Amino acid sequence: MPRTRPGQIHLAAFMNAGPGGVGAWRHPDAESGWFSPAFYQKVGRILEAARFDFVFFADSLGIPRSFGNSIENHVHYGVGTPRLDPIPVIAQIAAVTEHLGVGATLSTGYQQPFNAARTFSSLDHLTSGRAGWNVVTSFQDAEALNFGNEKLPGRSERYQRADEFLEVTAKLWDSWQDGALKLDKASGDFADPAAVASINHQGAHFQVQGPLSLPRSPQGYPVIIQAGSSPDGRDFAARWADVIFCSHASIESAIAFYAEVKALAARHGRDPDHLKILPAVTPIVGRSEEDAEARKLEFEELVPAEAGLARLSYHIDVDLSQFDLDKPLPPLEVKGVYGHYHEVLEVAARENFTVRQLGKWYGARTEGDLVGTPAVIVDRMEEWFDRRAADGFMISPTHVPAAFEQFAEHVVPELQRRGLFRTEYEGATLRENLGVPRPASGEWKSRLR
Ligand SMILES: Cc1cc2nc3c(=O)[nH]c(=O)nc-3n(C[C@H](O)[C@H](O)[C@H](O)COP(=O)(O)O)c2cc1C
Repeated sequence: MPRTRPGQIHLAAFMNAGPGGVGAWRHPDAESGWFSPAFYQKVGRILEAARFDFVFFADSLGIPRSFGNSIENHVHYGVGTPRLDPIPVIAQIAAVTEHLGVGATLSTGYQQPFNAARTFSSLDHLTSGRAGWNVVTSFQDAEALNFGNEKLPGRSERYQRADEFLEVTAKLWDSWQDGALKLDKASGDFADPAAVASINHQGAHFQVQGPLSLPRSPQGYPVIIQAGSSPDGRDFAARWADVIFCSHASIESAIAFYAEVKALAARHGRDPDHLKILPAVTPIVGRSEEDAEARKLEFEELVPAEAGLARLSYHIDVDLSQFDLDKPLPPLEVKGVYGHYHEVLEVAARENFTVRQLGKWYGARTEGDLVGTPAVIVDRMEEWFDRRAADGFMISPTHVPAAFEQFAEHVVPELQRRGLFRTEYEGATLRENLGVPRPASGEWKSRLR
């Protein structure tokens, strides 16, 4: 089939700094060295050899208690817990790789912008321009309770704080002009004071004098990753994000989301091509279609419905234990992840699922329907790319590191054979590999609402 869209896809890897998905740690081929650097470094080496753009770590600031207002199911089944702080984890991966981008989640809800700007600038310097920041606003009351708050603030309040947070971090990253460092041993000029300025930010949430205690980093700003999908979240992403991570129940909803977010970016004066949309997919590679289906079934067997329901309760921050498990899900007021709820609505309507069936499906879901032989998987990826449902994919593995190894060994060569994916890294920084420009100093002004 002739290609209808020029260019190549981007590939990122989705990780948790812990056991990951409900069935992931139980898989017979899963490794369990979550508390050792070697586990993450092995993953980093596999992904770099396969020429992935970056690896990215999700995060949450506490053990969820959304199901039955208790940590019981979450601890019992390992749902969203335990988790290491992803920042030191990505530093460990960066130490053994040269090209692979490394991204970590950090919430704008419970930090100060100065800390975040310093952390990501440090990472960007130490990795020579390979750092990414997944900006989240946090979405659970359980997280609020660890920071002296009883409840999560409402969505628009969270995004207002996030907007000002990004404004301050960007001002701090720009507070040293490029070239401010002189390092002139003869004259004794270390840096040019005229090229370093306070920011004197006075806003509704933050008051920050600045400047940052670090020179502008190789990428200017780290690559900004974002996964908000409510109307507020899309607007925020269209202005600030370089990469959007999303999750869809069908190619049709992915195409609609893609068109809307790209149009929003254009409306904010950005080149839509500088915002890369990477839907999550869970490939299951088989020697034949039957073999792949059998592997999928084997994976599903590992996930009890209660564990899937705990995971869904956590993601949408609604206590699903209050509903009759054998009836359909009633309409909900969702404070958690809007994108996941949207996906659930689509599948529940299409499959006529009860709450229990939804839990089972959600716990073991294999996003993107990439179950099959490498040729079939690449056919689907090509269709998503050609029909502008995606600029690339966030590979969300069934189990680690084997699912990445299988993808690298069998699917990446087929993508490369069809000219859909790089055979060598194009650039030195993550921005260069993604094809998103390095922001000029002062670029934050154009990103404000
Ligand atoms: C695929 C996906 C992955 C996400 N990963 C995280 C995460 O690791 N940590 C987190 O706090 N929020 C995460 N989120 C939540 C979003 O960043 C966002 O804060 C949340 O969806 C609420 O915004 P929204 O209502 O605009 O979607 C994720 C959302 C999606 C769709």
